[in-house]
Amino acid sequence: MSNDTAPIPIILDCDPGHDDAIAILLAVQSPRIDLLAVTTTFGNCSIDDATRNALRILTLAGATTTPVARGAAGSLAGMSELGNYVHGVSGLDGPEMPEPGFAPSEKSAVELMQGVLESSDHPVTIVATGPTTNVAALIQQHPEVVHKVAEIIFMGGSTERGNHTPTAEFNTYADPEALDTVINSGIPVRMVGLNLTHQALATPEIVARMQAMPHPIGHICGEWMGFFGSSYRAVWSFDSPPVHDPCTVAALIEPDLIAWQECFLAVETKGEWTRGTTIVDLHNRYERPPNASVAMKLDTARYWDLVLDAIDKLGQGR
Ligand code: RIB
Ligand code: CA
Repeated sequence: MSNDTAPIPIILDCDPGHDDAIAILLAVQSPRIDLLAVTTTFGNCSIDDATRNALRILTLAGATTTPVARGAAGSLAGMSELGNYVHGVSGLDGPEMPEPGFAPSEKSAVELMQGVLESSDHPVTIVATGPTTNVAALIQQHPEVVHKVAEIIFMGGSTERGNHTPTAEFNTYADPEALDTVINSGIPVRMVGLNLTHQALATPEIVARMQAMPHPIGHICGEWMGFFGSSYRAVWSFDSPPVHDPCTVAALIEPDLIAWQECFLAVETKGEWTRGTTIVDLHNRYERPPNASVAMKLDTARYWDLVLDAIDKLGQGR
């Protein structure tokens, strides 16, 4: 298999979370992805719940040999803003889920990331779908493996408004110092912000396609969207929930699924009202060199075909 068709080795750092859960299923199923490890972070829920949820999701998907390691319980600055108001008490409320079929690694998230990078024959992509605390800690504690990171593609920020606050998206708000470290690490960075993920709505038609699948995984995904959608209606008056996190994995599987813009990116770490806000200089007003690729346009129909096909294939195989 030539290099350009070899599966892309990734570490998925996440805070499952309903949309993280779909991202995990997509990464497990896609032949274009080699999921080397899953690491967990606080965010949508506590680190204990995020880790338990990751194990449950991987058990559901039959991926019980994928290493999982527990990561940060709070931000670099010691804060632990949580998103249970969106994802429920467990962080994955809604359908019954299997209990974890395997245990997490004895290693911490940073230790597992470091080990995977050190032993990999090829550069590894880090996909971050929660606060980037673990990724920043890896960069700070293990500069010797930074050259083994092909790129960091993160779900977070926005070129427009926020969600957790009027200007800040949740993942960046939860640890702005971590994102600042990521942006300034010298590692290629791609940002998949709310401006992109709000194009990935789980409409009733999409949910109906999940529910029509002849297997439990499809039904569970449909119920996840039901709970997630109820939160989005209650908090932000969305008719349908934006399924943020799988956009990162989908961008790796189908590179032309998303249109990107190279530009200068920064994150506010000091603002009294704007902490966690991403500053995306789309018109080069600061006249600073571009330091990130920012996702701008999603081929929504292809995105959902990709995600639903993966869910169905996974379900048929279980
Ligand atoms: O703001 C949306 C992001 O925050 C998503 O990654 C969601 O899972 C939460 O982590
Ligand atoms: Ca997430």
